Amino acid sequence: MTVKRFHLGWFMNFALDNWNSTFSSDGKPWNGGFYVDMAKAMERACFDYIMFEDTLMVSESYGGTTEAYLKHALMVPKGDPAPMAALVGASTTRMGVVATMSTLAYPPFLLARLCSTLDNICDGRFGWNIVTSGENLAAQNFGLDELPPRQQRYDMCDEYVALCKQLWDSWDADAVVLDREGNTYADHTKVRPIDFVGKYYKCRGPLNCAPSPQGRPAFIQAGGSPRGRQFAAETADSIIASATGVAAMKEYRDDVRARAAKAGRNPDDIKVLFTVSPMLAETRQAAQDKMDAWINGPDYIVRTLAGISSITDIDFSKFDLDAELPPLTTNGEQGSLDAFVQKGSGKTLRQLALDRATRGLDGVVGTPEQVADYLGEIMAEVGGDGFLISAGQWKLSRQYINEICEGLVPALQRRGLVRTEYTQTTLRETLREF
Ligand SMILES: Cc1cc2nc3c(=O)[nH]c(=O)nc-3n(C[C@H](O)[C@H](O)[C@H](O)COP(=O)(O)O)c2cc1C
Repeated sequence: MTVKRFHLGWFMNFALDNWNSTFSSDGKPWNGGFYVDMAKAMERACFDYIMFEDTLMVSESYGGTTEAYLKHALMVPKGDPAPMAALVGASTTRMGVVATMSTLAYPPFLLARLCSTLDNICDGRFGWNIVTSGENLAAQNFGLDELPPRQQRYDMCDEYVALCKQLWDSWDADAVVLDREGNTYADHTKVRPIDFVGKYYKCRGPLNCAPSPQGRPAFIQAGGSPRGRQFAAETADSIIASATGVAAMKEYRDDVRARAAKAGRNPDDIKVLFTVSPMLAETRQAAQDKMDAWINGPDYIVRTLAGISSITDIDFSKFDLDAELPPLTTNGEQGSLDAFVQKGSGKTLRQLALDRATRGLDGVVGTPEQVADYLGEIMAEVGGDGFLISAGQWKLSRQYINEICEGLVPALQRRGLVRTEYTQTTLRETLREF
């Protein structure tokens, strides 16, 4: 039987690593060297892309105070992913580099220009993680009283992306002629205003920077609500997916593929990558001991719940840890909330928080060989496309990166499950290679 290969990406915070652990950056990763080292290790392991996530506020959602966030350096402080992407792009040669940038924060012209600049710096390996932001506090940092409702955010996002695409197309592919004899850099008849007038945005154009190797960046997306999935099915080259358990993963991928086919796209052009966070050691018992030490640690529950509170604007400090949650909805990250609450499972909040460590995938704790087998089995059941390794903040260290890149990935490669080389030039081509 031929083994079906799958893709690997890395979900990275440009935030503190596990700063007070043995193998830490000592709380000083900010000049980016720490992340460049990580990216180089990932490129040696042939990851498709490294993706830098982002949020735009200091949260107060857990307990109505910033305390948990600042005490535990939870999603704060962090750096801006765009300059980090430039640094990583300039320090690597084959791996894709993805930065999260919110449609709430950037005027479309600035974002389109930034993406083209980064795609040029990355020689065609840049991806934009398209987010609309999901927190009231973020909205308030940009002059709004509160976050617009989800439907409107995605409607605005549709228009925003359409505008950006027109800006990226405002230079014909052959506009730059570099004609020395005619003393002409660009043919001005091939560079046009777009005169975009939409419901939410207005922009004259054309873009004022040179077309980039991919024309437009690769589009990455992470919304898991029905509306978010629809947007992704119509737009994304790759999806950052969060699901708890293999059945939920399969349902997610099947749904996005059906929506894509209905929208007239080839579902194979969308790579749905599921976040996983393996715990590795020399033996399964040693890996389980590491996991137990982590989830039974003094701050695990608070940190986990503060994290979920932050992306849903729901204060989880208010609920009894040993009771089931009431039904909950959010105008924030609905997909993440759904993955967390495991509706109908009858689990208590404490159990849900503990489940978050493995996202319902208990086999991700073990030796590299055991976890590689398990990931292969999951993909066979889900149908493809791959995983995004996420260390979260508390596992992120040089040691963890090495365990994945020098332990797990070679085990996956020996099974023929993941790539052993890059054969393409751009990120979009790399994603579509298989
Ligand atoms: C795994 C995952 C990662 C995400 N990462 C980010 C991020 O880095 N920055 C951000 O602003 N939103 C992020 N989001 C939020 C989504 O982009 C989206 O705005 C949000 O989930 C709301 O859409 P939904 O209700 O369709 O899920 C993430 C969502 C998921 C599920």
